[in-house]
Amino acid sequence: MNISTSTILITGTSGGIGGAIARQLAPRGASLIIVDRDAVRGAQMATELRKAGAKALVLNGELCEADVPARLVASAIELAGGIDILINCAGVQNFGFFADEASIDTTTLFKVNTLAPINLINAVLPHMLAKKHGQIVNVGSIFGSIGFPCFASYSASKFALRGFSEALRRELKGSGVGVTYVAPRFTRTPFNRDGVTRMAEALNMNQDEPASVAASVINAIEHDKLDRYLGWPEKLFVRINSIFPRLVDSSLMKQVEQMRPFATQTGR
Ligand SMILES: NC(=O)c1ccc[n+]([C@@H]2O[C@H](COP(=O)([O-])OP(=O)(O)OC[C@H]3O[C@@H](n4cnc5c(N)ncnc54)[C@H](OP(=O)(O)O)[C@@H]3O)[C@@H](O)[C@H]2O)c1
Repeated sequence: MNISTSTILITGTSGGIGGAIARQLAPRGASLIIVDRDAVRGAQMATELRKAGAKALVLNGELCEADVPARLVASAIELAGGIDILINCAGVQNFGFFADEASIDTTTLFKVNTLAPINLINAVLPHMLAKKHGQIVNVGSIFGSIGFPCFASYSASKFALRGFSEALRRELKGSGVGVTYVAPRFTRTPFNRDGVTRMAEALNMNQDEPASVAASVINAIEHDKLDRYLGWPEKLFVRINSIFPRLVDSSLMKQVEQMRPFATQTGR
């Protein structure tokens, strides 16, 4: 997909990875429509992106609200004349033992991580199919292929997004609309609150900078990749988990005790 001639709708641009994606796309001359639930912050970001060379519009949207995805897509098409690429990057994380998780937090997580992307895609697909042209990009997670203890609902929300991406790209074969699923590993952004960051350090988890993740997302778009798993050896673990899950069971189960102090209510 050619970035410089594309109109790109992107969620999560106030965050680490989404912000880095938008900032790297801007000098490439893309037309960016960013979604931010804070109007002032979104306007500031749009100004920054314009200074960097992009045409930039901001739309306000709380992705948990059911009618918002369809409204965002309709506004983007009306204001910008179309959408070539949709990047679903907004996300939230629940960390801790699932028995301690409030059901409202589980519901919010699935709304933001799974339902909002699916509903945005549902709204934009007829437009892309009519043009026989478009790219849908879903930012998932390595935890969307490896069910990770203390991230049960988060893992499940990203498993769902990965499964949806895989099914849809098969369904859309030959339509001119592609689907790209990108799975980052631990990335240094505000997404990982104190407890998660301390746990990642204690477990020696590999960590990426948001700029390098953003570069990989953009590269995957440019090369029309079906999926991309970021980081070594994480991408190998994804393969091993799909073929020999019992091997991964035993190593992750051992880690639960190391995670416990960080995952309890007081340790978060
Ligand atoms: N960081 C990691 O370690 C990591 C690893 C693997 C995958 N990922 C995935 O990468 C994506 C981006 O993560 P990140 O690290 O950039 O996270 P982040 O810095 O916390 O940013 C999250 C973004 O999502 C937006 N968002 C959250 N809830 C929303 C809602 N209800 N309505 C509208 N926007 C909402 C946030 O907006 P507000 O500022 O308004 O909250 C923010 O722009 C996520 O999908 C995440 O699952 C991250």
